[in-house]
Amino acid sequence: MKVIRTISELKQELSACRNAGQSIGFVPTMGALHQGHASLVRRAVAENDIAVVSVFVNPTQFNDKNDLKNYPRDLQADCELLESIGTTYVFAPEVEEMYPEPDTRVFSFAPLDTVMEGGCRPGHFNGVAQIVSKLFYAVEADKAYFGEKDFQQLAIIREMVRTLQIPIEIIGCPIVRESDGLALSSRNMLLTAEERNRALTISRTLFASLEYAMSHTLAETKSFVEDVINTTEGLKLEYYQIVDGNTLQEIANWDDSDYVVGCIALFCGKIRLIDNIKYKEVK
Ligand code: PAF
Repeated sequence: MKVIRTISELKQELSACRNAGQSIGFVPTMGALHQGHASLVRRAVAENDIAVVSVFVNPTQFNDKNDLKNYPRDLQADCELLESIGTTYVFAPEVEEMYPEPDTRVFSFAPLDTVMEGGCRPGHFNGVAQIVSKLFYAVEADKAYFGEKDFQQLAIIREMVRTLQIPIEIIGCPIVRESDGLALSSRNMLLTAEERNRALTISRTLFASLEYAMSHTLAETKSFVEDVINTTEGLKLEYYQIVDGNTLQEIANWDDSDYVVGCIALFCGKIRLIDNIKYKEVK
């Protein structure tokens, strides 16, 4: 496994691979890797000749300076994990390499980026689109892998690739959970033991709502989730929305869509967590 710091070296290495007829799979990350990332990388390794993983904490997608400052970083531990699962290249640039000058591009993926995270974290998806488009141009991969935990991000990346006509296949991969149900997230390592225990209420409530939904309306199910979270000490709900999985717009009835997903964001103490659950998916 080789660690690369500059776009020019990355391009040089990968063009040699491409010329040799090798396929390239890409997993963009912000580091602090966990088994959720590992599942994406394993898939990239299994489905491609070359697996590239970027590790870059992208400043332009943080709307909260403290969040950026406190975001966990451990490149050495990340590299150990990545090497153990067969990664070919780790791309770990400095901020100046990705942003030699301010990126003034403004993206709009309305209405996908105006709801949920888009409403709560102004500018977040613009920053994601800035960095992911730069990375896609640098790596020129055949396939890129994203986790479904960031459900809205995945929909926006698909839309970005479609509108910018970037020739890459986007693969969404299922959420990986701890054995007790907590969705894996780099932010989990910032939770105290007590907060982590409280955070379990999120997945437990979402799973309980699957059963509840069988005999209740969509509005009742939404209230069920909101009520449990709102009455759990230490949790502060930002939103729970039950949406069409393609348009990300809220729906009113279960029959309004064949693809129905519940998306939640909340604070557990000072740590912001997201999760989601599929009520219906007709493939
Ligand atoms: O999902 C993430 O970790 C980030 O948003 C991404 C896609 C690596 C862009 O910085």
